[in-house]
Amino acid sequence: MPLDTKLRAAEAAAGPTGLDRILVLEVARVTEAAAIAAARLRGRGNEKAADKAAVDAMRRELALLAIQGTVVIGEGEMDEAPMLYIGEKVGAGHGPEVDIAVDPLEGTTICAKVMPNALAVLAIAERGGLLHAPDMYMNKIAIGPGYPEGIIDLDASHADNLHALAKAKGVPVSHITACILDRPRHAELIKAVRDTGAAVQLIPDGDIAGVIWTTNPEETGIDIYMGSGGAPEGVLAAAALSCIGGQIQGRLMASNEEERIRAVKMGITDINRKFNLRDMASSDVIFSATGVTSGSLLQGVKFRGDTAETETLVMRSKSGTVRRIKASFRNVAQRYG
Ligand code: FBP
Repeated sequence: MPLDTKLRAAEAAAGPTGLDRILVLEVARVTEAAAIAAARLRGRGNEKAADKAAVDAMRRELALLAIQGTVVIGEGEMDEAPMLYIGEKVGAGHGPEVDIAVDPLEGTTICAKVMPNALAVLAIAERGGLLHAPDMYMNKIAIGPGYPEGIIDLDASHADNLHALAKAKGVPVSHITACILDRPRHAELIKAVRDTGAAVQLIPDGDIAGVIWTTNPEETGIDIYMGSGGAPEGVLAAAALSCIGGQIQGRLMASNEEERIRAVKMGITDINRKFNLRDMASSDVIFSATGVTSGSLLQGVKFRGDTAETETLVMRSKSGTVRRIKASFRNVAQRYG
């Protein structure tokens, strides 16, 4: 029996435990709604308004899902975020118990400026399947699938990582391109990468996309993601790689005592711990991202009169299925005001 058929048969026999494959489409609906809501506010220079629109839409859609969900990566702690805060219960209140990681608008600034690669992102996992990462920086390194496990290491030098990757790929290091967030804090990293002869592609924002690009270097030209970005984004990127393949490591970068305490409160007692993919996304995961602005990962939302068209990447780790869904929605004004 083919693997997928076996999996489907096993799931049908097991009944409503774990993540139901039907949720794949439901999860796509959630990011589609968030993307449309944010896209209506593209280019207004108002990060907060677009983010709020995406959060509202995502929360509305989540309430329709047959899940008992808990937000583990969200808009912030309960006292700083009115909606989709960490610990908030979401979903219709029946169905599987799941953990939810959301980034309703990944790339608030790029959406405000209509630059490429703003996304609405969500991952859903079996309870306990996602690292509860606090909102602070995480140092990250990631590559796509097809390489021996462990060829990159956050604790190795940048040069060693790039040479190891080039060797595994069978190319000179000058054929390797690293994607890095364009930030002053990365000046040393950028120099170290260029000193090896490798190329650097700088991005203004959006490192979830940066990590996903490594999974298709022939198309994207990106072999490796390096540098620090949001820890929540690190977990969402790990969720994506658990579906599509690849390797990622991350380590929190608490900048003060308050951040350290926050990490402990979320269950991370060893602040120096190096997390690998399985530490960040350990169970069956469904990952969905819908384009808000157009980029090389996804087409952004297109409005044609009162119709909106979306493109969504939705994947599931258990089956390794990767789907691209193009959808068209009518009566957008009525739905989104
Ligand atoms: P927002 O959507 O919250 O603006 O995050 C965008 C982003 O670029 C992330 O992709 C990345 O992880 C983080 O910001 C980097 O943080 P900083 O802008 O502080 O360098």
